[in-house]
Amino acid sequence: MRLAIIGAGSMAGEHAKHFRALDGVEVVAVCDLDDAKARAFAEAHDIPEAHSDLTAMLARDDIQAVSNVTPDGVHKATTLAAIAAGKHVLCEKPLATNAADAETMAAAAREAGVINMVNLSYRDAPAIQLARELVAEGRLGRVMHVDASYRQSWLVSDAWGRWDRDSQWLWRLSEAHGSKGVLGDVGVHILDFASFPVGDIAAVTCRLKCFDKAPDNRIGEYRLDANDSALMQVEFAGGALGTVQATRWATGHHNSLALSIHGDRGALRVDLDAARDRVQVCLGEDVHPARWTELTAPPTPSIYRRFIDGIESGVNDQPDFARGAALQRVLDACFDSDAQGRSLALTTGEPAERQPA
Ligand SMILES: NC(=O)c1ccc[n+]([C@@H]2O[C@H](COP(=O)([O-])OP(=O)(O)OC[C@H]3O[C@@H](n4cnc5c(N)ncnc54)[C@H](O)[C@@H]3O)[C@@H](O)[C@H]2O)c1
Repeated sequence: MRLAIIGAGSMAGEHAKHFRALDGVEVVAVCDLDDAKARAFAEAHDIPEAHSDLTAMLARDDIQAVSNVTPDGVHKATTLAAIAAGKHVLCEKPLATNAADAETMAAAAREAGVINMVNLSYRDAPAIQLARELVAEGRLGRVMHVDASYRQSWLVSDAWGRWDRDSQWLWRLSEAHGSKGVLGDVGVHILDFASFPVGDIAAVTCRLKCFDKAPDNRIGEYRLDANDSALMQVEFAGGALGTVQATRWATGHHNSLALSIHGDRGALRVDLDAARDRVQVCLGEDVHPARWTELTAPPTPSIYRRFIDGIESGVNDQPDFARGAALQRVLDACFDSDAQGRSLALTTGEPAERQPA
Protein backbone atom coordinates (compact mmCIF):
# COMPACT_ATOMS: atom_id res chain seq x y z
CA MET A 1 0.00 0.00 0.00
CA ARG A 2 1.50 3.31 -1.09
CA LEU A 3 0.28 6.45 0.57
CA ALA A 4 1.03 10.17 0.25
CA ILE A 5 0.56 13.01 2.70
CA ILE A 6 -0.83 16.44 1.74
CA GLY A 7 0.37 19.19 4.09
CA ALA A 8 3.67 19.05 5.95
CA GLY A 9 2.74 20.90 9.12
CA SER A 10 2.63 19.82 12.72
CA MET A 11 -0.20 17.26 12.58
CA ALA A 12 1.23 15.68 9.44
CA GLY A 13 4.10 14.39 11.59
CA GLU A 14 1.58 12.28 13.54
CA HIS A 15 0.17 10.87 10.30
CA ALA A 16 3.64 10.01 8.99
CA LYS A 17 4.59 8.34 12.27
CA HIS A 18 1.41 6.25 12.49
CA PHE A 19 1.29 5.17 8.85
CA ARG A 20 5.00 4.29 8.75
CA ALA A 21 4.49 2.06 11.78
CA LEU A 22 1.92 -0.08 9.95
CA ASP A 23 3.11 -3.24 8.25
CA GLY A 24 2.74 -3.14 4.49
CA VAL A 25 2.24 0.64 4.31
CA GLU A 26 4.80 2.89 2.65
CA VAL A 27 4.59 6.68 2.82
CA VAL A 28 6.08 7.46 -0.57
CA ALA A 29 5.45 11.20 -1.07
CA VAL A 30 4.50 14.42 0.68
CA CYS A 31 3.18 17.66 -0.79
CA ASP A 32 3.17 21.13 0.74
CA LEU A 33 2.68 24.50 -0.94
CA ASP A 34 5.89 25.45 0.79
CA ASP A 35 8.53 23.49 -1.10
CA ALA A 36 11.22 23.84 1.60
CA LYS A 37 8.77 22.56 4.23
CA ALA A 38 7.86 19.58 2.04
CA ARG A 39 11.53 18.71 1.55
CA ALA A 40 12.41 19.07 5.23
CA PHE A 41 9.41 16.91 6.19
CA ALA A 42 10.36 14.23 3.65
CA GLU A 43 13.85 14.12 5.07
CA ALA A 44 12.71 14.03 8.69
CA HIS A 45 10.27 11.17 8.04
CA ASP A 46 12.30 9.24 5.49
CA ILE A 47 9.82 9.88 2.66
CA PRO A 48 11.38 9.45 -0.79
CA GLU A 49 9.55 12.25 -2.69
CA ALA A 50 8.63 15.85 -1.85
CA HIS A 51 6.29 17.97 -3.98
CA SER A 52 4.91 21.47 -3.99
CA ASP A 53 2.54 20.66 -6.87
CA LEU A 54 -0.38 18.51 -5.77
CA THR A 55 -1.45 17.63 -9.32
CA ALA A 56 1.96 16.14 -10.03
CA MET A 57 1.89 14.05 -6.86
CA LEU A 58 -1.66 12.83 -7.51
CA ALA A 59 -0.70 11.81 -11.06
CA ARG A 60 1.35 8.93 -9.65
CA ASP A 61 -0.75 5.83 -10.38
CA ASP A 62 1.07 3.71 -7.84
CA ILE A 63 -0.22 5.85 -4.93
CA GLN A 64 -3.52 4.39 -3.73
CA ALA A 65 -4.34 6.69 -0.82
CA VAL A 66 -3.71 10.13 0.63
CA SER A 67 -3.85 11.58 4.09
CA ASN A 68 -5.00 15.20 3.90
CA VAL A 69 -3.44 17.28 6.69
CA THR A 70 -3.86 20.75 5.22
CA PRO A 71 -5.57 23.64 7.05
CA ASP A 72 -9.39 23.37 7.33
CA GLY A 73 -10.16 25.83 4.52
CA VAL A 74 -8.06 23.81 2.07
CA HIS A 75 -9.61 20.37 2.77
CA LYS A 76 -12.33 20.62 0.15
CA ALA A 77 -10.21 21.54 -2.90
CA THR A 78 -7.39 19.14 -2.07
CA THR A 79 -9.70 16.25 -1.17
CA LEU A 80 -11.78 16.67 -4.33
CA ALA A 81 -8.57 16.67 -6.39
CA ALA A 82 -7.44 13.46 -4.66
CA ILE A 83 -10.81 11.78 -5.20
CA ALA A 84 -10.80 12.83 -8.86
CA ALA A 85 -7.40 11.11 -9.13
CA GLY A 86 -8.96 7.92 -7.71
CA LYS A 87 -7.25 8.03 -4.31
CA HIS A 88 -8.75 6.83 -1.04
CA VAL A 89 -8.74 9.74 1.43
CA LEU A 90 -8.27 10.15 5.16
CA CYS A 91 -9.07 13.84 5.70
CA GLU A 92 -8.37 15.87 8.79
CA LYS A 93 -11.22 17.37 10.77
CA PRO A 94 -13.33 19.40 10.36
CA LEU A 95 -14.15 17.85 6.99
CA ALA A 96 -14.83 21.29 5.48
CA THR A 97 -15.80 24.76 6.63
CA ASN A 98 -19.54 24.43 5.97
CA ALA A 99 -22.09 21.66 5.50
CA ALA A 100 -22.63 22.24 1.77
CA ASP A 101 -18.93 21.72 1.05
CA ALA A 102 -18.76 18.69 3.34
CA GLU A 103 -21.75 17.15 1.59
CA THR A 104 -20.10 17.77 -1.81
CA MET A 105 -17.02 15.93 -0.56
CA ALA A 106 -19.09 13.03 0.82
CA ALA A 107 -21.00 12.73 -2.47
CA ALA A 108 -17.78 12.82 -4.54
CA ALA A 109 -16.21 10.06 -2.43
CA ARG A 110 -19.36 7.95 -2.61
CA GLU A 111 -19.65 8.33 -6.39
CA ALA A 112 -15.96 7.55 -6.94
CA GLY A 113 -16.23 4.51 -4.66
CA VAL A 114 -13.13 5.47 -2.66
CA ILE A 115 -12.65 4.76 1.03
CA ASN A 116 -13.18 7.99 2.96
CA MET A 117 -12.64 8.77 6.63
CA VAL A 118 -12.41 11.90 8.78
CA ASN A 119 -9.73 11.99 11.45
CA LEU A 120 -11.95 12.37 14.51
CA SER A 121 -8.97 11.08 16.41
CA TYR A 122 -10.57 10.77 19.86
CA ARG A 123 -12.54 7.78 18.54
CA ASP A 124 -9.18 6.05 19.08
CA ALA A 125 -9.59 6.40 22.84
CA PRO A 126 -10.81 2.98 24.01
CA ALA A 127 -12.94 4.68 26.70
CA ILE A 128 -15.29 6.30 24.18
CA GLN A 129 -15.83 2.98 22.41
CA LEU A 130 -16.77 1.33 25.72
CA ALA A 131 -19.00 4.28 26.64
CA ARG A 132 -20.91 3.83 23.39
CA GLU A 133 -21.34 0.09 24.06
CA LEU A 134 -22.63 0.70 27.59
CA VAL A 135 -25.22 3.18 26.33
CA ALA A 136 -26.22 0.92 23.40
CA GLU A 137 -26.67 -2.04 25.76
CA GLY A 138 -29.08 0.05 27.83
CA ARG A 139 -26.89 -0.14 30.94
CA LEU A 140 -27.64 3.51 31.75
CA GLY A 141 -31.35 3.18 30.99
CA ARG A 142 -32.88 6.16 29.22
CA VAL A 143 -30.26 8.87 28.72
CA MET A 144 -31.47 12.14 30.20
CA HIS A 145 -28.49 14.43 30.67
CA VAL A 146 -25.08 14.86 29.03
CA ASP A 147 -22.15 17.11 29.85
CA ALA A 148 -19.18 17.32 27.45
CA SER A 149 -16.19 19.65 27.42
CA TYR A 150 -13.01 20.20 25.43
CA ARG A 151 -10.61 22.51 27.25
CA GLN A 152 -7.44 23.93 25.73
CA SER A 153 -5.24 26.81 26.85
CA TRP A 154 -2.86 27.63 24.01
CA LEU A 155 -3.95 31.28 24.15
CA VAL A 156 -2.54 31.49 27.68
CA SER A 157 0.07 28.76 27.90
CA ASP A 158 3.14 28.48 25.68
CA ALA A 159 3.30 24.69 26.09
CA TRP A 160 2.44 24.16 22.41
CA GLY A 161 4.39 27.18 21.11
CA ARG A 162 3.61 30.87 20.71
CA TRP A 163 0.16 31.50 19.27
CA ASP A 164 1.09 35.09 18.36
CA ARG A 165 4.10 34.10 16.24
CA ASP A 166 3.52 30.73 14.67
CA SER A 167 1.33 30.37 11.55
CA GLN A 168 -0.09 27.03 12.74
CA TRP A 169 -1.89 28.90 15.56
CA LEU A 170 -2.51 32.20 13.76
CA TRP A 171 -4.53 30.65 10.91
CA ARG A 172 -6.75 29.02 13.55
CA LEU A 173 -7.64 32.50 14.86
CA SER A 174 -8.57 34.01 11.50
CA GLU A 175 -11.75 33.44 9.50
CA ALA A 176 -10.15 34.71 6.29
CA HIS A 177 -7.63 31.88 6.65
CA GLY A 178 -10.41 29.31 6.68
CA SER A 179 -10.78 28.90 10.44
CA LYS A 180 -14.17 28.38 12.06
CA GLY A 181 -12.62 29.12 15.43
CA VAL A 182 -12.54 26.79 18.39
CA LEU A 183 -15.96 25.50 17.37
CA GLY A 184 -14.68 24.16 14.03
CA ASP A 185 -11.26 23.20 15.37
CA VAL A 186 -12.02 21.17 18.50
CA GLY A 187 -15.76 21.80 18.96
CA VAL A 188 -16.17 19.24 16.17
CA HIS A 189 -14.25 16.69 18.28
CA ILE A 190 -16.37 17.20 21.38
CA LEU A 191 -19.65 17.20 19.44
CA ASP A 192 -18.57 13.85 17.99
CA PHE A 193 -17.42 12.62 21.41
CA ALA A 194 -20.86 13.36 22.90
CA SER A 195 -23.04 12.23 20.01
CA PHE A 196 -21.08 9.06 19.13
CA PRO A 197 -22.40 7.31 22.26
CA VAL A 198 -25.64 9.26 22.79
CA GLY A 199 -26.92 9.67 19.21
CA ASP A 200 -27.74 12.48 16.81
CA ILE A 201 -28.16 16.05 17.94
CA ALA A 202 -31.61 17.38 17.00
CA ALA A 203 -31.41 21.00 18.18
CA VAL A 204 -28.79 23.48 19.37
CA THR A 205 -28.53 26.80 21.12
CA CYS A 206 -25.03 28.22 20.80
CA ARG A 207 -23.10 31.22 22.10
CA LEU A 208 -19.71 32.03 20.58
CA LYS A 209 -17.18 34.60 21.70
CA CYS A 210 -13.96 35.99 20.27
CA PHE A 211 -11.94 37.82 22.92
CA ASP A 212 -9.64 40.77 22.27
CA LYS A 213 -6.05 39.53 22.19
CA ALA A 214 -3.85 41.90 20.14
CA PRO A 215 -3.80 45.59 19.12
CA ASP A 216 -6.68 46.02 16.62
CA ASN A 217 -7.07 42.25 16.87
CA ARG A 218 -4.62 41.81 14.05
CA ILE A 219 -1.18 40.24 13.76
CA GLY A 220 0.43 40.75 10.36
CA GLU A 221 -1.83 39.27 7.69
CA TYR A 222 -4.05 37.59 10.31
CA ARG A 223 -7.25 39.31 11.46
CA LEU A 224 -8.05 37.64 14.79
CA ASP A 225 -11.79 37.29 14.41
CA ALA A 226 -12.55 33.57 14.84
CA ASN A 227 -14.37 32.43 17.99
CA ASP A 228 -12.26 31.13 20.88
CA SER A 229 -14.99 29.98 23.24
CA ALA A 230 -18.16 28.08 22.36
CA LEU A 231 -21.03 27.14 24.67
CA MET A 232 -23.76 24.86 23.35
CA GLN A 233 -26.98 23.58 24.80
CA VAL A 234 -28.14 20.62 22.78
CA GLU A 235 -31.15 18.34 22.61
CA PHE A 236 -30.43 14.86 21.32
CA ALA A 237 -32.83 13.07 18.96
CA GLY A 238 -33.39 10.56 21.78
CA GLY A 239 -34.66 13.38 24.00
CA ALA A 240 -31.69 13.94 26.34
CA LEU A 241 -30.48 17.46 27.06
CA GLY A 242 -26.80 18.29 27.10
CA THR A 243 -24.22 21.00 27.49
CA VAL A 244 -21.22 20.92 25.17
CA GLN A 245 -18.39 23.41 25.45
CA ALA A 246 -15.04 24.12 23.82
CA THR A 247 -12.53 26.81 24.63
CA ARG A 248 -8.94 27.91 24.11
CA TRP A 249 -9.06 29.88 27.34
CA ALA A 250 -9.18 26.97 29.79
CA THR A 251 -6.19 28.06 31.83
CA GLY A 252 -4.70 25.04 33.56
CA HIS A 253 -5.72 22.54 30.87
CA HIS A 254 -3.55 21.64 27.91
CA ASN A 255 -5.93 19.40 26.02
CA SER A 256 -8.70 17.99 28.21
CA LEU A 257 -11.74 16.07 26.97
CA ALA A 258 -14.39 14.97 29.44
CA LEU A 259 -17.84 13.49 29.07
CA SER A 260 -20.58 12.52 31.55
CA ILE A 261 -23.72 10.68 30.51
CA HIS A 262 -26.59 10.27 32.97
CA GLY A 263 -29.50 7.90 32.45
CA ASP A 264 -32.43 6.89 34.62
CA ARG A 265 -30.64 3.64 35.62
CA GLY A 266 -26.99 4.62 35.63
CA ALA A 267 -24.26 7.02 34.63
CA LEU A 268 -20.78 7.03 33.12
CA ARG A 269 -17.85 9.41 33.03
CA VAL A 270 -14.89 9.59 30.66
CA ASP A 271 -11.95 11.85 31.43
CA LEU A 272 -9.14 11.46 28.91
CA ASP A 273 -6.71 13.38 31.15
CA ALA A 274 -7.11 10.67 33.77
CA ALA A 275 -6.96 7.71 31.34
CA ARG A 276 -7.79 7.01 27.72
CA ASP A 277 -8.96 3.48 28.47
CA ARG A 278 -11.03 3.88 31.65
CA VAL A 279 -14.71 4.57 32.11
CA GLN A 280 -16.12 5.43 35.54
CA VAL A 281 -19.57 3.94 36.00
CA CYS A 282 -22.36 4.17 38.54
CA LEU A 283 -24.82 1.40 37.69
CA GLY A 284 -27.58 -0.68 39.24
CA GLU A 285 -27.72 -0.59 43.05
CA ASP A 286 -24.69 1.77 43.10
CA VAL A 287 -27.04 4.51 41.90
CA HIS A 288 -28.48 4.86 45.44
CA PRO A 289 -25.24 5.56 47.34
CA ALA A 290 -23.82 7.30 44.20
CA ARG A 291 -20.89 4.85 44.26
CA TRP A 292 -18.60 4.87 41.22
CA THR A 293 -16.40 2.05 39.97
CA GLU A 294 -13.95 1.88 37.11
CA LEU A 295 -14.07 -0.27 33.96
CA THR A 296 -11.06 -0.80 31.69
CA ALA A 297 -11.79 -0.68 27.99
CA PRO A 298 -10.08 -3.10 25.58
CA PRO A 299 -7.62 -1.57 23.06
CA THR A 300 -9.06 0.11 19.96
CA PRO A 301 -7.26 0.03 16.60
CA SER A 302 -6.20 3.51 15.47
CA ILE A 303 -8.02 5.32 12.70
CA TYR A 304 -4.85 5.02 10.59
CA ARG A 305 -5.04 1.22 10.93
CA ARG A 306 -8.77 1.18 10.23
CA PHE A 307 -8.36 3.39 7.13
CA ILE A 308 -5.81 0.96 5.67
CA ASP A 309 -7.96 -2.04 6.66
CA GLY A 310 -10.89 -0.39 4.86
CA ILE A 311 -8.86 -0.02 1.67
CA GLU A 312 -7.79 -3.66 1.87
CA SER A 313 -11.26 -5.02 2.61
CA GLY A 314 -13.29 -2.51 0.58
CA VAL A 315 -15.47 -1.85 3.64
CA ASN A 316 -15.58 1.80 4.71
CA ASP A 317 -15.19 2.14 8.48
CA GLN A 318 -16.43 5.05 10.61
CA PRO A 319 -16.18 8.01 10.93
CA ASP A 320 -16.67 8.50 7.19
CA PHE A 321 -17.26 11.68 5.18
CA ALA A 322 -21.03 11.33 5.66
CA ARG A 323 -20.43 11.52 9.43
CA GLY A 324 -18.13 14.51 8.84
CA ALA A 325 -20.92 16.21 6.88
CA ALA A 326 -23.50 15.44 9.59
CA LEU A 327 -21.26 17.09 12.19
CA GLN A 328 -20.75 20.02 9.85
CA ARG A 329 -24.54 20.52 9.79
CA VAL A 330 -24.41 20.80 13.60
CA LEU A 331 -21.57 23.35 13.34
CA ASP A 332 -23.52 25.40 10.77
CA ALA A 333 -26.59 25.34 13.05
CA CYS A 334 -24.38 26.55 15.93
CA PHE A 335 -23.20 29.55 13.89
CA ASP A 336 -26.78 30.34 12.85
CA SER A 337 -28.01 29.95 16.43
CA ASP A 338 -25.33 32.31 17.71
CA ALA A 339 -26.14 34.88 15.02
CA GLN A 340 -29.90 34.67 15.61
CA GLY A 341 -29.75 34.29 19.40
CA ARG A 342 -32.15 31.36 19.48
CA SER A 343 -32.40 27.61 19.48
CA LEU A 344 -32.47 25.91 16.05
CA ALA A 345 -33.63 22.48 14.89
CA LEU A 346 -31.07 20.57 12.83
CA THR A 347 -33.57 19.14 10.35
CA THR A 348 -35.29 22.41 9.41
CA GLY A 349 -32.87 25.15 10.45
CA GLU A 350 -35.96 26.77 12.00
CA PRO A 351 -36.47 27.68 15.68
CA ALA A 352 -36.57 24.38 17.58
CA GLU A 353 -39.85 23.06 18.93
CA ARG A 354 -39.39 21.69 22.42
CA GLN A 355 -39.68 17.91 22.43
CA PRO A 356 -42.30 16.47 24.76
CA ALA A 357 -40.94 14.98 28.01
N1 LIG B 1 -7.33 15.14 14.51
C1 LIG B 1 -6.67 15.89 15.36
O1 LIG B 1 -6.65 15.62 16.55
C2 LIG B 1 -5.92 17.09 14.84
C3 LIG B 1 -4.89 17.69 15.58
C4 LIG B 1 -4.22 18.78 15.04
C5 LIG B 1 -4.59 19.26 13.78
N2 LIG B 1 -5.61 18.68 13.10
C6 LIG B 1 -6.03 19.17 11.76
O2 LIG B 1 -4.95 18.96 10.86
C7 LIG B 1 -4.97 19.98 9.85
C8 LIG B 1 -3.59 20.63 9.79
O3 LIG B 1 -3.29 21.21 11.05
P1 LIG B 1 -1.78 21.56 11.46
O4 LIG B 1 -1.79 21.93 12.88
O5 LIG B 1 -0.86 20.50 10.98
O6 LIG B 1 -1.57 22.89 10.57
P2 LIG B 1 -0.19 23.50 10.06
O7 LIG B 1 -0.47 24.91 9.76
O8 LIG B 1 0.91 23.14 11.02
O9 LIG B 1 0.11 22.68 8.70
C9 LIG B 1 -0.66 22.79 7.53
C10 LIG B 1 0.28 22.65 6.34
O10 LIG B 1 -0.49 22.60 5.13
C11 LIG B 1 0.21 23.33 4.13
N3 LIG B 1 -0.73 23.71 3.07
C12 LIG B 1 -1.61 24.74 3.05
N4 LIG B 1 -2.31 24.73 1.90
C13 LIG B 1 -1.87 23.66 1.20
C14 LIG B 1 -2.22 23.13 -0.08
N5 LIG B 1 -3.16 23.67 -0.85
N6 LIG B 1 -1.56 22.01 -0.52
C15 LIG B 1 -0.57 21.44 0.25
N7 LIG B 1 -0.21 21.93 1.48
C16 LIG B 1 -0.86 23.01 1.92
C17 LIG B 1 0.80 24.51 4.88
O11 LIG B 1 1.88 25.09 4.14
C18 LIG B 1 1.25 23.84 6.17
O12 LIG B 1 2.58 23.36 6.10
C19 LIG B 1 -6.09 20.94 10.24
O13 LIG B 1 -7.25 20.64 9.51
C20 LIG B 1 -6.34 20.65 11.71
O14 LIG B 1 -7.68 20.90 12.10
C21 LIG B 1 -6.26 17.60 13.61
